[in-house]
Amino acid sequence: FPVSVVLPAGGTGERTGLQTPKQFCSFLGRPLISYTIQAFERVSWIQSVVVAVGEENAELMADIVRRFRHGKVRVVPGGSTRHRSIWNGVLALEGGGDGEGAVVIVHDAVRPFVDEELLYEIATAAKEHGAAGAIRPLVSTVIASTSEGFLDHSLERAKYRASETPQGFTYDVICRAYRQCSESDFEFGTECLHLALQYCGTNAKLVQGPPTLWKVTYKQDLAAAESIIKGELP
Ligand code: C5P
Repeated sequence: FPVSVVLPAGGTGERTGLQTPKQFCSFLGRPLISYTIQAFERVSWIQSVVVAVGEENAELMADIVRRFRHGKVRVVPGGSTRHRSIWNGVLALEGGGDGEGAVVIVHDAVRPFVDEELLYEIATAAKEHGAAGAIRPLVSTVIASTSEGFLDHSLERAKYRASETPQGFTYDVICRAYRQCSESDFEFGTECLHLALQYCGTNAKLVQGPPTLWKVTYKQDLAAAESIIKGELP
């Protein structure tokens, strides 16, 4: 079955405190996002990769894409939220994700260390169940705070998981979910699997991913990412 990829890369990376969004920070002479794209570009069964970036980085991104050989990577405008960036990417997939039974993989541009085995697992689970996503055990306990900044309640850590990417959807499910979801989902929602469940009744299969799936978010993550790229960390 045809598999396409949407990489939301329209964020500003405020949490790193750097001028350059983290996906464009340079590692051993190459921007972080080029490692993420490479992880998909070299997978032969992935047909196309659509990257959604903010207007201010469109030229930089076009330059990065030119360095990839196979011409399966394209750039589209990002949106004001992650969901809007993803939806822009999905809308840009030619011919409905390229045919009958197509699967769309969504992956954050700031998670460069994704491997083919996991992508295959996510793609096949999405094909079978309609949606699938990578998860990790929680590192910290999740608590809710009152508006005055006091503990409201805490969740039982063993019951919950951190939702990571890649996530996979049949083209039909992701389109139906975004077509039906509200402005408030677009504005404040962060979980695509939730939209698939809420608007399509599609139960996502959860797949345990490796620790290297973490999202490069803070300044210190940049050093950890560089060590992995250099092969110093597994
Ligand atoms: O901000 P957060 O860490 O949740 O971003 C996850 C991914 O979503 C990043 O790759 C970021 O570039 C992308 N994003 C986007 N458009 C936005 C905001 C975030 O594509 N408006």
